[in-house]
Amino acid sequence: MPAPDATIRPSARLAVLASGNGSNLQALIDAVASGSLPADVVAVVSDRADAFALTRAGRAGIPAVHVGRHAGETRPDYDARLADVVAGFGPDFVVLAGWMRVLTMSFLGWFPNRVVNLHPALPGELAGTNAIERAWHEALAGERTSTGVMIHLVPSESIDDGPVLASRPVPIHPDDTLESLAARVHRVEHELLVTTLTTLCRQEVPQ
Ligand code: GRF
Repeated sequence: MPAPDATIRPSARLAVLASGNGSNLQALIDAVASGSLPADVVAVVSDRADAFALTRAGRAGIPAVHVGRHAGETRPDYDARLADVVAGFGPDFVVLAGWMRVLTMSFLGWFPNRVVNLHPALPGELAGTNAIERAWHEALAGERTSTGVMIHLVPSESIDDGPVLASRPVPIHPDDTLESLAARVHRVEHELLVTTLTTLCRQEVPQ
């Protein structure tokens, strides 16, 4: 009789939280499909019912869940409800891929060292929303010639700050439009997110 293999897990489990378009989610879905990322995207959760990320998940056959904030609900109460939903999918890592809410410890406390955020700027730079646009304006004003991308852990409530897993500079060209710069940043994001998660997932589930 073969040995029971119920404990053998070939892939790490990723839950992806996304508020918008979901191009980074798509990069993960594609990398899983191609076999380069040893993981399964087990759920996509959004705070926005109309997030295209949910459509992308549905197309890929991944459970897509909208968890909206109720009127009058406190942030910690919302985050506890969100954590309950996400934990139900048993993720090894929770990936914030264009997730536009700051999470409190009511969520983060459930997933210590397991929440990974993507920020379209280098460590310590341009925290918060519209980071690409702000970098582009600074370049127009002659204040910078590059920006970047970073991926970091989220151990506590903070905005785009935490132990850095990977970062990469992105040049800003003199003739860049906001659109051309954003496209360059997004290409780097997609690549860096996949390679960083590949490393994390291999550590989690040695092949
Ligand atoms: C990305 O630039 C991410 O870094 C930022 O929001 C954007 C989301 O893009 N936090 P998408 O939804 O993955 O296309």
